Amino acid sequence: MTGETAHNLRGDYSRMRPDCTVDQDWDAYSPQQHALWRRLYARQAGRVERYAAPEFRSTLSRLDFHVGIPRFDAVNAMLEPATNWRLVAVPGLVPDLVFFEHLAHRRFPVTVWLREPHEFDYIVEPDIFHDFFGHVPMLFNPVFADYMQAYGRGGIKAHALGAIEMLARLYWYTVEFGLIESEGRLCPYGAGILSSGGEISYCVDSPDPNRLGFDLMRIMQTRYKIDTFQETYFVIRGFDELFRATEPDFAPFYERLRGREPHAPSTVLSTDRVYHRGANPIRRAG
Ligand code: PHE
Ligand code: CO
Repeated sequence: MTGETAHNLRGDYSRMRPDCTVDQDWDAYSPQQHALWRRLYARQAGRVERYAAPEFRSTLSRLDFHVGIPRFDAVNAMLEPATNWRLVAVPGLVPDLVFFEHLAHRRFPVTVWLREPHEFDYIVEPDIFHDFFGHVPMLFNPVFADYMQAYGRGGIKAHALGAIEMLARLYWYTVEFGLIESEGRLCPYGAGILSSGGEISYCVDSPDPNRLGFDLMRIMQTRYKIDTFQETYFVIRGFDELFRATEPDFAPFYERLRGREPHAPSTVLSTDRVYHRGANPIRRAG
């Protein structure tokens, strides 16, 4: 997730290096924190088994993240040979450009702090459970891993073009809250959904939200909410579709979108490919 600035944020930014990384200091986690991690993991693993994209499920089950807060160096020993990505520890949200630079170099920033017990169901800023449980399994998928790097490079460019707001919407509606059509069902692959106790079932079972076909330009002009379940999810038909759609140079796209009033999160347009309400198994609106 991208953040505006490193001010007024939770986390200890005092020992950060110029690239905003810190040491994970795994030995500093308390037994209570490992126990809280295990509880978070156990609840979520059952729901993931039922709802998540197969690409996410297959990786999670191969990794032993249920035993306690993972050591980043141990994970890197598996992740680097798989997709040449590496985790780096950060104190919390980091400035956009720093975040993009890490992604562009196939480094994924993971927050080191864990939520408090009273935040079991909901946190405002991403913690290690969100960053790790939600994002890391997908980094083992080769196509998705390449998409994340391309996104980082695109972010550096968007920063220079003053277009981060538009590009951030793409991250939100794919990496954080994306759904994929798979085996005749809709499955979340977005980290914001997969690390959430409630939204993981809501996003596919609830009759309330819109589920619309992935459309790059449409997404880049659609606002989003950060403090409620999403009102709209966008559905890809495969990671290849996502990768191919985002391959072209975005500079002319930003030009075209600039100055246009963005759509509200709840808008449905006549041009949208709409999935039926309560979408599993998949039914298209007729
Ligand atoms: N192709 C995009 C550009 O030229 C970069 C990008 C790739 C953005 C993948 C998002 C995702 O800006
Ligand atoms: Co995230």
